[in-house]
Amino acid sequence: MPSLYVGVIGIGFGQQVHVPAFRADGRCQVRALCARTAERARAIADRLGVPEAHGAWQELVASPHLDVVSVAVPPALQPEIVIAAARAGKHVFCEKPAGPDVGRVEAMLEAVRRAGVCHAVDFLFGEIPAWQRAKEVLDSGALGRLRHAHLNWRKEIYAVRHRKVSWKLRQADGGGTLNSFVSHSLYYLEWLFGPAAEARCRLGPGGAESETQVDAWLDFTSGLRLILSVASDAYLGPGHRLEVYGDDGTLVLDNPGHDHAAGFRLLVARRPADALQTVLQPGPFPAGDVRVLPAARLVRRFVDGILHGASVAPNLEHGLRVQRLLDALRRADHTGRGETL
Ligand SMILES: NC(=O)c1ccc[n+]([C@@H]2O[C@H](COP(=O)([O-])OP(=O)(O)OC[C@H]3O[C@@H](n4cnc5c(N)ncnc54)[C@H](OP(=O)(O)O)[C@@H]3O)[C@@H](O)[C@H]2O)c1
Repeated sequence: MPSLYVGVIGIGFGQQVHVPAFRADGRCQVRALCARTAERARAIADRLGVPEAHGAWQELVASPHLDVVSVAVPPALQPEIVIAAARAGKHVFCEKPAGPDVGRVEAMLEAVRRAGVCHAVDFLFGEIPAWQRAKEVLDSGALGRLRHAHLNWRKEIYAVRHRKVSWKLRQADGGGTLNSFVSHSLYYLEWLFGPAAEARCRLGPGGAESETQVDAWLDFTSGLRLILSVASDAYLGPGHRLEVYGDDGTLVLDNPGHDHAAGFRLLVARRPADALQTVLQPGPFPAGDVRVLPAARLVRRFVDGILHGASVAPNLEHGLRVQRLLDALRRADHTGRGETL
């Protein structure tokens, strides 16, 4: 007998990652799915063996049979759903970025607090073993005082490659490189290095519905300066790489592959070594969508939080912090000046 019944809204990432991530926890049963039409939801629900299918998210959120609503829809739609779910007393697992702007994410946070429900946001890089090990190395002080860091994340996304008409390329719907990629980065950079204090930023190309390129520098309160360069229109781009240089050593997290979550290796060198040593190789990974693994770790903590009445990180407080940072980067691009974060 499961402890919690879950409804998933969205059959893209929702179908590929949320459903298996909740199914990986024996305390949960995925009982309902929702898409834009009942027919589409029914087709996927039948294929996955999920009993209920809805063509209107309002119906799913109001269902008395559900304890948890898990949301994977375009970010502009997410706040309305999360607020309604919280008001209906459901615990909410939602996607990043939490919403399209600070005001709406503040309203989400207020709604979940008022309802006293558990909430989590799927910033999943911190759930990947190589990233967890990197944090241990940084927290141990093994690199000494950190001098500077560099983040380079460049790939070409499907919507850009195929010139698709998609919310993923419209900032107003929560798309664009800042929302899709840099939201992850802002969360994991503060998780690794503590609070960021000031940013400068340039977005490109100008005049598009949303940026595909984000170049920024971030000064952290610790004194660390990080240069960030992220692009979602980089054909054969080098992947995702974070370099950290300290007085006593260097750390590199590197994923040259196309998969978002699989393929990270961790390299570290401490003086007097004259070369980086591989501390953690990627994998092995189970068959299927590799993003399920980190999402399932976060889901497990979320379910623990619900059953034991504890809060979970990352949650909508972190989602709101990231939203404020995203806004600050947009302002910095607009004004050309440094913005306090
Ligand atoms: N954490 C991560 O690493 C990660 C990775 C990828 C995506 N995401 C996030 O996941 C979310 C969804 O992304 P995606 O890639 O799955 O996008 P997608 O492929 O465009 O799918 C969006 C889904 O939302 C559904 N939807 C849209 N409007 C709806 C409505 N009014 N009522 C019910 N369902 C509605 C769509 O239904 P139809 O199928 O019927 O059109 C579709 O299934 C986004 O927030 C994205 O940022 C996170």
